[in-house]
Amino acid sequence: MRKQIAAANWKMNLTLEQADALVTEISNHNRKLGENHVVVFAVPFPYLIWVSEKTSNMNQFHVAAQNCYTKKSGAYTGEVSAEMLNSIGIKWVVLGHSERREYFGETNQMLSEKLNLALEYHLTPIFCCGEPLPIREAGTQNQYVEQQLRESLFGLSAEQIQKIVIAYEPIWAIGTGKTATSAQAQEMHAHLRKILASKFGDKIADGISILYGGSVKASNAKEIFSQPDVDGGLVGGASLIATEFNTIIDSLK
Ligand code: PGA
Repeated sequence: MRKQIAAANWKMNLTLEQADALVTEISNHNRKLGENHVVVFAVPFPYLIWVSEKTSNMNQFHVAAQNCYTKKSGAYTGEVSAEMLNSIGIKWVVLGHSERREYFGETNQMLSEKLNLALEYHLTPIFCCGEPLPIREAGTQNQYVEQQLRESLFGLSAEQIQKIVIAYEPIWAIGTGKTATSAQAQEMHAHLRKILASKFGDKIADGISILYGGSVKASNAKEIFSQPDVDGGLVGGASLIATEFNTIIDSLK
């Protein structure tokens, strides 16, 4: 059974005090998670250890970094390596978010390097892909995401690919309040799975969790997550509001 994942992407938001109140309210919510359910908090680097400690008694809660660098170590001021994350007990990392691609020039090739290092240091990468609006309007989104997958993921071995999670995030839906319809999400997720199957085989493709991201909120999560190829969500804005994110977690199938 594929893992169903509710991943919070805090981005560059929240003071420590605000983060404390948020995690407390989410942890205290009365819920029974299914066996295959996973909750991930992708938090800014300074909060990684603190959120890990705060959630250490919740065994289906995990903490992710929002990025790591393409190199193992060295003179790269301001960067954080996969090995460092591993050394502080972090087990997840978000890679290739569209904001990293757009504002920090991350390319498919760089992401392939980051993925290899993340896997070498036993991190589960949440690899993000997704098309900008002009590509969607031109109707070439399938080819666009296929190229992202080919250039970043096709160099991985069969063993490695099974350790990653994919997040499909159409850029036109991120932070815009404009969600892809559940039919659009399903169509793209099925396409992504087909691309993975063409390279790694049906069985492996069937086991990979594919999250949807882009204006997921309490009111639409259930409908989107109910699609057969959607295995949860990567959530930005709504993950900063405890009541919203609690409902999103409760919407996992
Ligand atoms: P959003 O962001 O939920 O605010 O649209 C999603 C993301 O960027 O991961």
